[in-house]
Amino acid sequence: MIQRTDQLPTIELDGRQITFHPGESLLEVASRSGVQIPTLCHDPRLDPAGACRSCLVEVEGQRRLLPSCATPAVDGQKVTASPEHSPRIERHRKSLFSLYLTEHPGEDHPDGVERGAPNKLVRAAKAFGAEDWGKLENLRDDLLGDRSHDENPYIQFDSDLCILCAKCTRYCDEVESVSAITLAGRGSETTIATPDGRSLLDTTCEMCGGCVAVCPTGAMGEKKPKTHKMPVEAELEKVRTTCNYCGVGCQFDLNVDPAAREGGGEIVKVTSPTPAPPPPTPQPRGRTGGSTARTRCGKGRFGYDFLHHEDRLKTPLVRGADGELHPATWDEALAAAAAGLRGVQERHGKDALAFVSSSRCTVEENFLVQKLSRAVFGTNNVHQCAAT
Ligand code: SF4
Ligand code: SF4
Ligand code: FES
Repeated sequence: MIQRTDQLPTIELDGRQITFHPGESLLEVASRSGVQIPTLCHDPRLDPAGACRSCLVEVEGQRRLLPSCATPAVDGQKVTASPEHSPRIERHRKSLFSLYLTEHPGEDHPDGVERGAPNKLVRAAKAFGAEDWGKLENLRDDLLGDRSHDENPYIQFDSDLCILCAKCTRYCDEVESVSAITLAGRGSETTIATPDGRSLLDTTCEMCGGCVAVCPTGAMGEKKPKTHKMPVEAELEKVRTTCNYCGVGCQFDLNVDPAAREGGGEIVKVTSPTPAPPPPTPQPRGRTGGSTARTRCGKGRFGYDFLHHEDRLKTPLVRGADGELHPATWDEALAAAAAGLRGVQERHGKDALAFVSSSRCTVEENFLVQKLSRAVFGTNNVHQCAAT
């Protein structure tokens, strides 16, 4: 049942009265009303973990600051979320991000601070005036990274960039239902690892790249941008398109290095569009909610090398009288295919023909194949691979 706005419960947020739908978190109410709260471990597709403490807010009557991502809004609550309204929140954010930087190379990372995805931690640290409190020794193992020489071709983990927000492991578990990676070790040696320290190739990992996409620091990153010395993501041009590997129609962004191939441009990585915020009515999240947010399969995310491969066919080929394939125009190729099909029909009858289409095609294309089969050639011998 849709409730009228004037019947909805209300909180006071930074002095403003804001209505909310029961079940919404303080973070959701705040972002809907334009109040910016920094987050590192939050993702609308995951169960809230309250792990990174960057989204803490002041709630009247509560002794401690509370994580807004994991705290449901309650009617009549008085909440302060912005540093301009609360010196306590200003102090908290400055100290928290200064502390994070003691275990993170920040601007000093040899491969650049934004080697992988945009580094949310370093951006937040700058925004909230974090200070240099020195660096602690990294005691964690790169169980998926350089030191273990994991031979998977795509994903690399750099423990010195990791803030243990567990977004990658939660995504792998709650969205992908794969659980290929996990938190391992204890105390200051806690790290991200695979069961028994196996290569990702020897686990249930599907190479979806979701762990890379959600990581807020680039600790879970792509190998290729590092080994190929590509520009950082912020310098790439994004082109929104639809994956053509299958008929599901996932949207993604091709990241183009405009200077590559002598200015012709080159697709150097694929990223997912930012997930849409949830609707204002409370929705179940993560594993319990059966999230609809599967982002990419491995082919869509990492299988883009073929686009610029020198062996890729760019024009149709038609077999000539010499038995060899020769480049042709589309008109020539279609005329040759039509003549071949008509020839079989005339010599052997319409049911000597059969048409098989692909689940990689769109539904419209599949419709046209059956139309071609039935209406043009008069045979019901038509099939689509997904039907078997
Ligand atoms: S690539 Fe996908 S399946 Fe593999 S560890 Fe990352 S999230 Fe899990
Ligand atoms: S690798 Fe990234 S997402 Fe995973 S725990 Fe570390 S910082 Fe968080
Ligand atoms: S975003 Fe709320 S605790 Fe991390």
